[in-house]
Amino acid sequence: MQAQLASIIADAEAAAASVTNRPEFEAFKARLVGPNGSLTAAMKAMGAVPKEDKPAMGKLLNQTKVSVEAVLADTLRRVEDAELLAKLGPAIDVTLPVASDEEGIRHPLTQTRERIVGVFRKLGFTVADGPEIESEWTCFDALGTPPDHPARDMQDTLYMPKSFTAKDSPRRSDEELCLRTHTSSVQIRTMLAAVAAQAKTGSLPPVRIVAPGRCFRRDTVDATHSANFHQVEGLWVGKGVTLRDLKSVLDAFVKETFGSKAQIRFRPSYFPFTEPSFEMDIKVPDMGRLSDRWLEIMGCGLVDPKVFDNVGIDSREYSGLAFGMGVERIAMLQHGIDDIRHFYANDLRFLRQFA
Ligand code: DAH
Repeated sequence: MQAQLASIIADAEAAAASVTNRPEFEAFKARLVGPNGSLTAAMKAMGAVPKEDKPAMGKLLNQTKVSVEAVLADTLRRVEDAELLAKLGPAIDVTLPVASDEEGIRHPLTQTRERIVGVFRKLGFTVADGPEIESEWTCFDALGTPPDHPARDMQDTLYMPKSFTAKDSPRRSDEELCLRTHTSSVQIRTMLAAVAAQAKTGSLPPVRIVAPGRCFRRDTVDATHSANFHQVEGLWVGKGVTLRDLKSVLDAFVKETFGSKAQIRFRPSYFPFTEPSFEMDIKVPDMGRLSDRWLEIMGCGLVDPKVFDNVGIDSREYSGLAFGMGVERIAMLQHGIDDIRHFYANDLRFLRQFA
């Protein structure tokens, strides 16, 4: 009996080393303390031990039990540790250099765009969106620029290959898809959506949106031109929207953005989708080398009735104002940046200045 107990411990200790996972552990445990386990058998055998040997044997059996339980506990801990390690993946090399804990910043163009949109939100505008790949109709025709119109040359357009189909702009058989040259296309989409809502509810929902977005032109890149740039478009359609609204909205925007001393000036201009059309200039007293000079910052005007006709809004009942500005241009004026290419160079020395 004594020898049997000693070998139970020795065998357990020897076998424990080869246990590497949970099923192996369960089998190992069963071999010791399961119904047919060696320790279980030894406990059963106690009945046959002569009465006078019982106290000593009982003590030995108890010690054996304690030892076996310790081996089981150790083995289980080892199996659990291995399971955890497997979950954690490969060991971490603590000698590797750490990733920089420097916080990123939002890109200056993002900051400017958010500031512009924020001002118009305060003025009661909501944000609208449209695709960058656009149908020619939405980008040009609906905005009063038919294919032979000279204004179409004003913007050198990048076209999609004929084989391309976009989810959002299903190509009609004869239609070209282009990369939008301006966010004015969102005016058309917004008005079409409003007209669709009107067909359901009987009244035209309020249209007072700004549409920030990326635009593309076949421009040669230089200090003031980029083939890829950003605009914020504005559109307000309602009954009795006038030039006075246009001026007051834009004056409020300029004062919020460039300070209360900033002045605005409207110069007559031409856009195919507005009548009358203007370029708006600003003059700001404390803007470094650009102080006190008239600086052009956006195009604007009243929505041309023929644009309303194109989208199915009754131009006898409704009028509207529209404006469009370049985000890069505003950011350059705000920060005294003299080259548009800085925005796209990802040079941290430049970007860090906008933290
Ligand atoms: N879409 C014009 C451009 O890219 C900018 C513009 C001018 C937008 C006048 C307007 C507007 O909404 O009324 O040059």
